[in-house]
Amino acid sequence: MKILVTGASGLLGLNLCLSMEGAHQIIGVYRNKLEGTPFELVKADLLEDSACSRLLDQVLPEAVIHTAADANIDSCEADPEGARRLNADLPGVLAEACRQRGVRLIHISTDAVFDGSKGEAYLEGDVPNPLGVYAQTKLEGEQAVQAANGDAVVARVNFFGWSLSGERSLSEHFFYTLNKREKCFGFTDVTFCPMHVLDLASTLMRMLESGLSGLYHVVGSEAITKYDFGVRIANKFGLDASLISPISVEESGLRAKRSHILWLSVHKLSAALKADIPGVSTGIEQFYTQYQQGYPQKLRSYQQE
Ligand SMILES: NC(=O)c1ccc[n+]([C@@H]2O[C@H](COP(=O)([O-])OP(=O)(O)OC[C@H]3O[C@@H](n4cnc5c(N)ncnc54)[C@H](OP(=O)(O)O)[C@@H]3O)[C@@H](O)[C@H]2O)c1
Repeated sequence: MKILVTGASGLLGLNLCLSMEGAHQIIGVYRNKLEGTPFELVKADLLEDSACSRLLDQVLPEAVIHTAADANIDSCEADPEGARRLNADLPGVLAEACRQRGVRLIHISTDAVFDGSKGEAYLEGDVPNPLGVYAQTKLEGEQAVQAANGDAVVARVNFFGWSLSGERSLSEHFFYTLNKREKCFGFTDVTFCPMHVLDLASTLMRMLESGLSGLYHVVGSEAITKYDFGVRIANKFGLDASLISPISVEESGLRAKRSHILWLSVHKLSAALKADIPGVSTGIEQFYTQYQQGYPQKLRSYQQE
C-alpha cells in the first residue's frame, strides 16, 4: 500500500514510517528536521493554503496517517489560536481532501479528551470533557474529521518509545534522567495506558488492512500510574528507582491542568481486530531491546544538521 504519513519527524510519525517501510511504500511529510531516512520524504508546511490537496495530488497515496499536531500541552496553552489551526482545523481540511479523492484516513487523537474522573475504563461512547487547550483542540479535530469523512478512523492513542530528539516521550525522560543519576518526579495520581510505539504502528496497520472506520481507543491494555511506569523503566534498565520521588501532579507546578485517570477500554478494538491488544510490559521489553540494538542512535542519524 502507498501510505502518506504526516509528522514524519515526530515521535509517532518517525517510528511509524520506519516500522512500515519495506512492507509498504511510505512517504513521510516533514518540514526541516529529517534527512537520509530509508523511506521517501516530501517537504511541506501543512498549514499553508491548499497544502493537503497539493500533497494528495502529488503523492497519490492510497491511505494517509495523520500524526502531525501540536502535541505539547504547555505550548498549546501559550498559543491557543495556533493550536486550533493545527489540531482542530487542519484535520477537517485533510479529511475532506481525502474523502474527495477516495483516500483512506487514520487521524490520530488523544486519550486526553477525557477529564479522568470516571473511575472506570472509558468507552468510545463516553462523553469527553477536555481540561485544557490541547485536549479541547484535539477533540475539535476529531469532530471535524468525523463531520467531513465518515470512512475515516479516529484513533485515540497514548504511546512511548525513542524519538529523534531523545526528548519526546516519558520513557525517554525517565531513562535519560536516571541514567545520569539525577532525581525526577513520578506522579502517583495520574494513570494512563501507554502502548509501545511499534505496537501502535502495527495495530494501526491492522486497522487499515481490516478496513475499519470510526472512533477507536488504541492504547495499551494495562493501566499504570506514571510513577509505577518510571519504576518499571528503571528496573528494566538496572537504574536506581529510588531517584524517582512519588508526588501528586497537583504539587508538580505544571502549568496546564492534566486529567488524573486516563484508563481507556480497548474492548472495541480487540473485538474488531479479533486480537489481544499488547500491554505495557511487552512494550517496556521492546523499548529495552531497541536500546540494546542502538535504535536511539539510528534515529538521531536521521536528524538534519
Ligand atoms: N506523545 C504522546 O504521548 C501522545 C499522546 C496522545 C496523543 N498523541 C497524539 O499523537 C500524535 C503524534 O504525537 P507525537 O508525540 O509524535 O508528536 P511530536 O513528536 O510533537 O511530532 C509532531 C509532528 O508534527 C509536525 N508538524 C507540526 N506542525 C506542522 C506543520 N505545520 N506542517 C507539517 N508538519 C507539522 C512536526 O514537524 P516538525 O518536527 O517539523 O515540527 C512533527 O513531525 C499527535 O496527534 C498527538 O496529539 C500523542
